Amino acid sequence: MSELKRQWWKEGVVYQIYPRSFQDTTGNGVGDLNGITKRLDYIKSLGVDIIWLCPVYQSPNDDNGYDISDYRTIMAEFGTMKDFDALLSGMKSRGLKLIMDLVANHTSDEHFWFQESRKSRDNKYRDYYHWWPAEKGTPPKRWSYFDVDGNAWKYDKLTDSYYLHYFSVKQPDLKWENPEVRKEIYNIIRFWFDKGVDGFRMDVIPFISKDTTYPELPEKYKGNYVSYYSEGPRLHEYLHEMNQEILSKYDVMTVGEAPGITLDKALDFVDEEREELNMFFHFDLMSLDRDGDEVFWMRNDKWKLTEFKKVHSDWDKVFAKRGWGSMFLSNHDFPRSVSRWGNDSPEHWRNASTMLHTFLLTMRGTPYFYFGDEIGMTNVRFDTIEDYKDINTLNRYELLKQSDISLDDFIENEKEAARDNARTPMQWDSSTYSGFTESKPWIKVNSNYKTGINVAAQENDSHSVLNYFKKMVLLRKHHLGLVYGDYELLLEDNEEVYAYTRIFESEKYLILLSFSENKTTVDIDEVSFKNAELLISNDTTLKSQSIPNFHLKPYQACVYELT
Ligand code: GLC
Repeated sequence: MSELKRQWWKEGVVYQIYPRSFQDTTGNGVGDLNGITKRLDYIKSLGVDIIWLCPVYQSPNDDNGYDISDYRTIMAEFGTMKDFDALLSGMKSRGLKLIMDLVANHTSDEHFWFQESRKSRDNKYRDYYHWWPAEKGTPPKRWSYFDVDGNAWKYDKLTDSYYLHYFSVKQPDLKWENPEVRKEIYNIIRFWFDKGVDGFRMDVIPFISKDTTYPELPEKYKGNYVSYYSEGPRLHEYLHEMNQEILSKYDVMTVGEAPGITLDKALDFVDEEREELNMFFHFDLMSLDRDGDEVFWMRNDKWKLTEFKKVHSDWDKVFAKRGWGSMFLSNHDFPRSVSRWGNDSPEHWRNASTMLHTFLLTMRGTPYFYFGDEIGMTNVRFDTIEDYKDINTLNRYELLKQSDISLDDFIENEKEAARDNARTPMQWDSSTYSGFTESKPWIKVNSNYKTGINVAAQENDSHSVLNYFKKMVLLRKHHLGLVYGDYELLLEDNEEVYAYTRIFESEKYLILLSFSENKTTVDIDEVSFKNAELLISNDTTLKSQSIPNFHLKPYQACVYELT
């Protein structure tokens, strides 16, 4: 058994909210803070403990709030600071914790700092951002996620210089090398902690440190900019400093979004002794079904279950003794989990959704659920570019016009891969616009809210995905071994069933998850046990099983206690 360091953020279940799409109360088609407050009893009823709120700060919304123009003001579309305070106090009174999104690699170009910085080369804020004077020639290539030309340097005529933006032209990168910038960020963090916020999810945090000599991309990266961006020379110095200056002074949790971070680097971020972060989201699973580079990232649906298992087994191992992991299958940047990792056909949707819930809630590592996954929301699969709102899809569409990849193929790809699949409104009931809003929503609602994928219908159905989710959350709560127990993979080569044990002191659990459309039988002879008591299954007809042969229906999930 690994050394036990109990923490609320290890035992909690996280529920992520994309505020724009959760609940509108003003009738403008955009979700808002009062909408979340209105739904707090629902959130509490799920059994989750922690809410992660995607950015709600003032923003021109080039990237839906990930471009912040004022870190201490609430975006007008979402409400006011008074609404925020009411939301927070509503959470506190229900025993819910709140983590916010810290977007500190970049700001909006409409932030006061950048407005000043652009003005002149000797402006007080000039050194808050990365500038390259044009008289030095064209800067060495940097790749940008959201630029129509894929170029992360934007020429700014006013001072005859280029500024750096790893994301869109409206998201200039902050210069953490400047101690004043770091101080500003720590003060922002303090502002929110003093309000009672319980932590932060840190957006693209490994990208904050840059080599300010801006060399050509070193040979060893073989053109992979993301790896280069994620290991800047002073990254760990900054994370440690942030921890010491501010994080360590509060009882809070931190989870970094960590593109580019590989297994061998994991503990540098989260080993307790390093005093940096608590946990982070790696990208190994998220790239499992993708081919090509980030620009032309195309979906490859031929991923294998053995690869899926390997990703999770490898990451579990890294944190077995030190640090802590995070578990997620979807978020606002990826398609819906049941459509991606399960099966959303009418025949299999229910079992696949609940099987995936069972998975996240029986693994070691803090589980993160994206809003709507608890009712099995699926990909919307827009078939025309006009329905898409996301800068990522829209820019890549423009970029592809200059390539030989067909736009039709791209749209087919986006039906499965686009971020907007996860950004459609929450499906509350079967009324017009799914109870999300009373007027036209900012992005179309998935029409399957009419056919059972909505909260109201599922609350009244004891076999619903929603009710299974609640039961499964409770099961984790009541079995500490499912949180802290050691994980051991069984049936490593099986391409249909994911099986593992979790062992903690005298508790021993066996988890069987079918990822197959077919019936399967597995023989569990790698562990010895006399009796397997069924704790939960998404097959409600299941009573007992012949042991050690377990028969599984398509997408069936079972959790057994072994003795
Ligand atoms: C992160 C966010 C994503 C955003 C990007 C730029 O990846 O999760 O939504 O577009 O950072 O801030």
